[in-house]
Amino acid sequence: MPKTFFITTAIDYTNSPPHVGHAYEKILADVIARYHRLKGEKVFFLTGVDQHGQKVQQSAAKAGIPPSEFVKGITQKFIDLWKKLDVQYDEWAQTTSDRHKKVVRGILQRLFDAGQIYKDKQAGYYSVRQEQFLTDKERGPDGQFGTEWGEIEFREEENYYFKLSQHKDWLLAYLDKRKDAVIPDFRQTELRNAVEKITGDLCISRPKSRLDWGIELPFDKDFVTYVWFDALTNYISFADYNPSLSTFNCQPSTFLQKWPALQIIGKDILVPAHGIYWLIMLHAIGFPDDQTPRLLVHGWWNLSGAKMSKSAGNIVDPFVLADKYSADALRYYLMSDIATGQDADFSEERLVERYNADLANSLGNLLNRTLYMVTKYRSGKVKPVRFAFAIGEFDSPENESELAALVVNFPVDSMPFVPDYAGYFDAHRVSIVLEHVWDAVTACNTLVDCAAPWKLAQDPAQADRLDAVLYYLAESLRIIAILISPVLPKAAHGIFDQLNWKMELNGKEERFSLADAEWGELPDGHVVGKPVRLFPRIETTEL
Ligand code: ME8
Ligand code: MG
Repeated sequence: MPKTFFITTAIDYTNSPPHVGHAYEKILADVIARYHRLKGEKVFFLTGVDQHGQKVQQSAAKAGIPPSEFVKGITQKFIDLWKKLDVQYDEWAQTTSDRHKKVVRGILQRLFDAGQIYKDKQAGYYSVRQEQFLTDKERGPDGQFGTEWGEIEFREEENYYFKLSQHKDWLLAYLDKRKDAVIPDFRQTELRNAVEKITGDLCISRPKSRLDWGIELPFDKDFVTYVWFDALTNYISFADYNPSLSTFNCQPSTFLQKWPALQIIGKDILVPAHGIYWLIMLHAIGFPDDQTPRLLVHGWWNLSGAKMSKSAGNIVDPFVLADKYSADALRYYLMSDIATGQDADFSEERLVERYNADLANSLGNLLNRTLYMVTKYRSGKVKPVRFAFAIGEFDSPENESELAALVVNFPVDSMPFVPDYAGYFDAHRVSIVLEHVWDAVTACNTLVDCAAPWKLAQDPAQADRLDAVLYYLAESLRIIAILISPVLPKAAHGIFDQLNWKMELNGKEERFSLADAEWGELPDGHVVGKPVRLFPRIETTEL
């Protein structure tokens, strides 16, 4: 049985509503998931929410409601947002669910029984914001703890510890052996440097006296589980992992079928959470090295170079943007204006600019004029005439050099070349994929300008040529719709609808398949629909 492609994202904190950074990560995962479905693979896309921990308890207290009520409200906002943005996940992780708690407790008990967890006393400085004790290595050059740690207090506490440092050598060896453990490369280097510096163990409990919004330890009811240990486990608890089976290969087939996952996370939670805690947790509970997940680390959307944060009051609300410009507009901007792994600056002006240029003008216009011309000159019927578009073939080329480029770009029987669509997608370089698809869109528009079908239509001797041009455009649009469908699912459906193509699959995901991105599927005599504006221009005066 072929493997299921398993993709996850970070689970979002439910201490505050979603912002555009959260939207970016889920859309990126959704786009990659849709690309794999497009290839015909079975996909399991897991995302969800992180509902426990001190931050949530504090936010709930501030709101004057119990944490359980508080997380319900915020969780609903995330669910609503993913629906609005067409983020189509296969399983929803929420850490307050019994399914999850059972797995967290099971893993803790196993590690405790194996002597991997012990009780100890600690005294020291504690960061309330980061929910962790600080050591001297967190001090800046001036000897002080930086402002990123927030409020610092002195604490003395008994807690349970996981023998993290015992696995340091394993992790170093693993990272040296597995070159694609972390993507991009510079993040793997960053992680390796951090692993070198591991000294202590990981505190995995919080006394209930100060935090009771968490999963109770199975071996001591006075403590709850540290939120990261709890949250990280979601990646396997919602994928059918059974903690009572210690031999990896004895796990249920539903788990083995999909694991290991490709895990998408932001740059802030690689070190130490995913790169150190998570990989070591899995190793400690018996995951073989070749079953260790790969981590795809994305950059951040900033605002005028500054970090977006609730405290700074510069949060961009994805609901507002989707309502104002459409889900596809936001998806397109977030996928096209950032290089995976790098940071980018968020700008609403830029979103509008890209929308108007690429969606309204280039693609929208191509669809519109193509359908208009097929309807007007051929009563909506396309005819697959093969025609070599070469210099001199056209009556009155408006621009000789543009036409010269067309000779290269327009083979007789395929759309303008989109180089290595699958290769760039497999490398998660979504913005490059889009760039190449849009080069093809531009080339098609250039063909319209040069071939001037409105002139061909006036000369009966040019009938074949006119059919060839119109077929070329309609068939290119059909293929372009398939290629953009992972990023722009609504627009892809819109193009198929207007081409009057595969109507029986209207709205369904199976409508698109990469195997159908082959030239010549629109049959002779196929009747296209009437043009309807897919992307109405956004008037910039509204901004
Ligand atoms: O870290 N740009 O949750 P979170 C891009 N619950 N990505 C951003 C971003 C931005 N401006 N701001 C945040 C947590 N993110 C934990 C994760 S996983 C077991 C637990 C990304 O709500 C961030 O990098 O603070 C992270 O990957 C995700 O949003 C959730 O962040
Ligand atoms: Mg965070």
